[in-house]
Amino acid sequence: MNGIRFLVTAGPTREPIDPVRFISNRSSGKMGYAVASCASARGHAVILVTGPVSIDPPSGVEVVRVETAEQMNAAVRKAFRRCDCLIMAAAVADYRPARPSRHKLKKGSAGLNLDLVRTPDILEGLKPLKAGRIVVGFAVETRDLLENAAGKLRRKGLDMIVANSAEAFDSEDSAVHFITPEGRVETFRRRPKSATALAIIQRVEAEFARRSQKR
Ligand code: CTP
Repeated sequence: MNGIRFLVTAGPTREPIDPVRFISNRSSGKMGYAVASCASARGHAVILVTGPVSIDPPSGVEVVRVETAEQMNAAVRKAFRRCDCLIMAAAVADYRPARPSRHKLKKGSAGLNLDLVRTPDILEGLKPLKAGRIVVGFAVETRDLLENAAGKLRRKGLDMIVANSAEAFDSEDSAVHFITPEGRVETFRRRPKSATALAIIQRVEAEFARRSQKR
């Protein structure tokens, strides 16, 4: 099989409040890094767009480091043209402080309200540019996992969504469901993220081969 050009995102984004503080989330980047590593080991070309994490990127992968959701959006949109498949494992912040302070905020005796505005939804924004590309998203939920994930799959025009409960955050293992637009659900019991990564890459390889045959 010909190599697939993968674009993988990983890790959290950080949205600055002031020069020393930010809003972020518990994503460790392990899932996205496992996907990038697996794709590369199987001979595919990989661009990894990563938020700040404390693990080393796999060798043989082109790494683009970003911090904010807006930077991730710009990096992903730039690399999207050069890929056959996007795997969006990053935990992108949905809101950012509207006006980050240029100087460190000083505390007062009263409380503090932060004005938040929406960040771009990267996957939704790519929907019109998708063409024949395979796009895989992730959903992290604390309730109604399958329903919420299936809603995101439809809304974001994805070819597959990997649904996991919030326990997967910062863990070595995850229990996941793969959901496709035809409504097929595959369930995997808790296992290392490397095993989940391999299953994702195998599904993409099969779909890529199927589409290549039709062309
Ligand atoms: N995502 C994205 N851009 C955002 C937020 C999320 O591209 N601004 C992507 C994530 O990388 C993931 C998918 O969308 O692949 C679902 O992310 P999730 O955080 O579970 O869902 P949201 O769309 O943010 O919805 P909600 O916060 O309401 O659960």
